[in-house]
Amino acid sequence: MRIHRYERWWLTFGMAMLLVFLGLIGFAAFADNINPPSDMQQVDPTKVSQTAPFDKPGLRKLSDGSYEAYYVAQVFTFNPATLTVPAGSKVTFFVTSSDVVHGFFIPSTDINMMAVPGWVNEQTHTFSKPGEYLLICHEYCGLGHQNMFAKIEVR
Ligand code: CUA
Repeated sequence: MRIHRYERWWLTFGMAMLLVFLGLIGFAAFADNINPPSDMQQVDPTKVSQTAPFDKPGLRKLSDGSYEAYYVAQVFTFNPATLTVPAGSKVTFFVTSSDVVHGFFIPSTDINMMAVPGWVNEQTHTFSKPGEYLLICHEYCGLGHQNMFAKIEVR
């Protein structure tokens, strides 16, 4: 079989790019420790409402002045539905689901993760600008998906 010269160049180029990008992903994961914000901790999805800290979802203030926010996602709500923090607050969000996979996305911040039954996902954001932030589900989860949102007030 004869392969045209240009065809061979492109094949070589394509294979080389695959190796370069695989290498970059490996470098980011192992050398820079950049990983998806997921699967940090397990929780029984059928017992979320009895399992601390998700038995009392909401905000906790830490001794260093930052916050932790515990959320339960379920069709088609987030609990808590509203959260209020002072401007400048650093908030670490912990989220799980008690039924199906949901999304957990706060536009204009870097919070973008999934709420997965059985797992606790975690991300941190500092709310420097006051305002009302929307928390939306951006993973199709059923007929009420488009109504699944919550609010975060930064004052
Ligand atoms: Cu929950 Cu879409």
